[in-house]
Amino acid sequence: MRQKLLTLICVGFALCACKNEIPRAIPQDPEMEAKIEKILSRMTLQEKVGQMTQLTSGAILEPGTHHVSKKGESILRKYKIGSVLNTMEDVADSTWAYREFIKEIQDICLDEMGIPCLYGLDQIHGASYTLGAALFPQEIGVASSFNDELPFVMGDVCAYETRACNVPWVFTPTLDLSRNQCWPRMWESFGEDPLVQSRMGVQLTLGLQGDNPNRIDSKHVAVSLKHFFAYGAAISGQDRTPSMVSPRELKEKFFPAFKASIEAGALTIMVNSSNNDGIPFHTNKELLTGWLKEGLNWDGMIVTDWADIRNVYERDHTTATYKEAVAASINAGVDMIMEPYSVKVCDYLVELVNEKKVPLSRVDDAVRRILRVKFRLGLFDDPYSGTLEDYPEFGSEQHVQSAYRAALESEVLLKNENSLLPLSKSDKILLLGPNANSMRTLGGGWNYSWQGEVADRQEFAACYNTIYEALDAKFDSVTYLPVLEYAPYGDFQTEIRGDYSQALRAARKADVVVIAIGENSYCETVGNINDLTLSSNQLELVKTLAQSGKPVVLILNEGRPRVIREIEPLAGAIVNVLLPGNYGGDALASLLCGEENFSAKLPYTYPKYVNRLNTYDYKLCENRATMGGLYNYDANIESQWPFAHGLSYTTFEYSNMRVDKSEFSAGDIIKVSIDVSNTGKVAGKEAVLLFSSDLYASVAPDVKRLRDYTKIYLEPGQTKTVSFDLKADDLSFVDHSLNWVLEEGEFRLACGSESVLVNCIKGR
Ligand code: BGC
Repeated sequence: MRQKLLTLICVGFALCACKNEIPRAIPQDPEMEAKIEKILSRMTLQEKVGQMTQLTSGAILEPGTHHVSKKGESILRKYKIGSVLNTMEDVADSTWAYREFIKEIQDICLDEMGIPCLYGLDQIHGASYTLGAALFPQEIGVASSFNDELPFVMGDVCAYETRACNVPWVFTPTLDLSRNQCWPRMWESFGEDPLVQSRMGVQLTLGLQGDNPNRIDSKHVAVSLKHFFAYGAAISGQDRTPSMVSPRELKEKFFPAFKASIEAGALTIMVNSSNNDGIPFHTNKELLTGWLKEGLNWDGMIVTDWADIRNVYERDHTTATYKEAVAASINAGVDMIMEPYSVKVCDYLVELVNEKKVPLSRVDDAVRRILRVKFRLGLFDDPYSGTLEDYPEFGSEQHVQSAYRAALESEVLLKNENSLLPLSKSDKILLLGPNANSMRTLGGGWNYSWQGEVADRQEFAACYNTIYEALDAKFDSVTYLPVLEYAPYGDFQTEIRGDYSQALRAARKADVVVIAIGENSYCETVGNINDLTLSSNQLELVKTLAQSGKPVVLILNEGRPRVIREIEPLAGAIVNVLLPGNYGGDALASLLCGEENFSAKLPYTYPKYVNRLNTYDYKLCENRATMGGLYNYDANIESQWPFAHGLSYTTFEYSNMRVDKSEFSAGDIIKVSIDVSNTGKVAGKEAVLLFSSDLYASVAPDVKRLRDYTKIYLEPGQTKTVSFDLKADDLSFVDHSLNWVLEEGEFRLACGSESVLVNCIKGR
């Protein structure tokens, strides 16, 4: 009777709780949940802690082989390890090699614990750690397309080619708003704008996971959104250094992308390595448990970044011992510990539970979340992802074409004075610059290796064209002079300089000088720099060649916008290819000769001065004319190119902007329409962007915010009407009590050259 009463109370409580509950981000499958409970009920503490531990492949691999070492097997068995990450020998490997290695791991784990291992890999812009995979532009290039179809396709192809390796989990999408252009991971993200980050993140998530997060099929993988969050707002611009973002701004600008992808079904999240206002993200319970798990009613799993619990203690000194750091992180909501080489953490966690410093219920919750990911991926049914024969489309022409089309839409035409471009195929081209003949620079980091430094090796580069090879195939006469190159090994900034006067002599015989400059590949802290200005060797190269009097075309190939103020006026045309991947050279050749048209726009503000780094959504006081009277209180924003700048070989005219209501209330939808015409001579795609400005607000409003975008194709002379359904609530902001509010008053909506005023008469 007692038992019955208790059950009734529990059921009653559950029903009440449900009433006011936020709906689950991912609806649960009761049958799956029952299986999870059954497994959990028979697990020992050691087994639970083992599930929560993730080692790097190197810790269990027999060096030089694709096999688990004897020592590795005994670690897996003794510590009941639940997850392994990484490529095997720090470089890309073949599908079959992954399959061989992961099968051995699965066989050991199933034999020891009856629970499959969760293998994770940094497949960042396509299956970037797999030989022969179709590699796309890095996220920054996908963002510059302003075409939401591209991240979906990239995710879909990446998932298929990753699962062909029997890897079911990837550490992407990166949703770090890049708010400091110095930050060496800017290129890994979708840029500086919260809306682009959210929308593209959702598409990449859906492409990778498919549309049913509860049953991920064998052609899809689980995502790990990263790095939660404000990682790209490092004050110093150096990797893994603190941010100082207020909770208000965290909620308004940094959280939405994570929230949107979680609501689209994202199964896991990786935490930001650093700290905000002194609190390491890994020990921030309010954010990990409060905002993510409880706030979104999300039953997914949180994984640390590389050795970051250790960093809480060793680097950040916010705990006095490593063991305390383990307790603080697990209690904050971390579920899986990426502690690549050491199992010490397992011993600590067992002790902490026995000492009641970490509740067993917290460990159980973490293990449930980990098992749930494994079930949702179908690993209990098939831990081998079928056989390699189930993946006939691996590296197919269709996948390659998708990557090539993405590269075409990612390269931004920044300047084209007197229509210098397109070039004629018969033009005699002199090609120079350290980025002209390198696959490494086109790919960037996470490209066959962590730093991307191996990408020019024959085994990786043979099938693809550098800028030089692609131009040479497309144009009649291309001469490449390697008078400035990056050192093949060592620091990514080291350059080898030759004789510029030889290049100047050659330029006098050419019709046009094309100079490919920018950055060599790098990743994470290795890419930290002290000066955002382009290297002096490269600036001088351009200045020297400009003396030839021949038209100069600059190709920027860079992971972040290096300051080029001094040489910009010397070039008639400038293209920023960002990091376009293996087909970036081919795409550039087609664009430069006019066979294809440019359609990309900058996903960030391109700075002109190293001490004037701003984003497009700055405050009004940062850019204002002289005040009348005694003091000159002016301020100015001066960028090289603004956010969303990008040209085409055709021209587009915007007209007739209109709204279906000029007065609106919270909850309304405002239909905004505009006519866009192709007024030039060639066909083209145009990304149409809708901005809003809140004219007065109780928190100083941003000068403008992107609210919607779409991309259209127009033949010459064609006009299309673009309509946006703008939710009134999208015009709200987060106030100091951390509430989303929509205030009454006027807003300006702007699109291209046009704008209209609308008035909020009833806010929220
Ligand atoms: C990076 C992550 C990456 C992880 C695993 C870390 O150093 O910050 O982005 O996913 O390593 O390789």
